[in-house]
Amino acid sequence: MHSVINPAIYYWGTPVVLITTENEDGTTNIAPMSSAWWLGDRCVLGLASQSHTPMNLLRTKQCVLNLPSDDMGAYVNAIAKTTGSPVLSPKKQTLGYELCRDKFGRAGLTPQPSDLVRPPRIAECPVQMEVELVLRTHIQDDLRLPGHSNRVNADLWRPMIMSFQHLYGLAPKTIDSKLASIDEEKYRTLTGAALAEAGPAELGLEMDQSGK
Ligand SMILES: Cc1cc2nc3c(=O)[nH]c(=O)nc-3n(C[C@H](O)[C@H](O)[C@H](O)COP(=O)(O)O)c2cc1C
Repeated sequence: MHSVINPAIYYWGTPVVLITTENEDGTTNIAPMSSAWWLGDRCVLGLASQSHTPMNLLRTKQCVLNLPSDDMGAYVNAIAKTTGSPVLSPKKQTLGYELCRDKFGRAGLTPQPSDLVRPPRIAECPVQMEVELVLRTHIQDDLRLPGHSNRVNADLWRPMIMSFQHLYGLAPKTIDSKLASIDEEKYRTLTGAALAEAGPAELGLEMDQSGK
């Protein structure tokens, strides 16, 4: 049996991301969010326009996308319902938000310098993507797939998933995936990072003489 409902939110389950950005005064803001998805090496971020993070992003054009694991809920809760914005929007006031300029201190998280962008990474997060595009991905060594230079061991990566505002981990694998029989490297030509590194000729993407 199915029935019709009209949910206020459609958060079916996406990874939680802790975005670090640089404030106007050089300090760092952290925003927990989960409306994030990747297409190749581009990430689409759904952020409320009254939040502080989009302002930092528009000004500095840089951030780090830190992915917490599913055992990091206490850190996320410590900075939930806080904003780095000096002005609380009417919406955030209604939702019970408060100002917090030191989210690292509030959460007990540790800043770790980034290699390529100004905002720091979050040391406790097992995955940290320095972003203009995704410039560089850092990963805890024990999450790498042995025998491969650039692969993640999907059996060991335990992302924190938000579903309808509640925080979960992943359930165990339900079935062997047919799609996973494809070598991940076959997707590499789809990413801008690969293009930048190898150049279009090496990837067989050079234009033909008619310019197409
Ligand atoms: C687990 C979790 C997921 C969230 N997901 C989003 C989201 O996808 N988009 C968004 O705009 N806010 C999301 N929020 C709310 C933001 O954290 C909130 O808007 C906060 O004020 C952002 O911080 P900032 O104002 O300092 O940038 C989420 C909060 C939590 C705790």
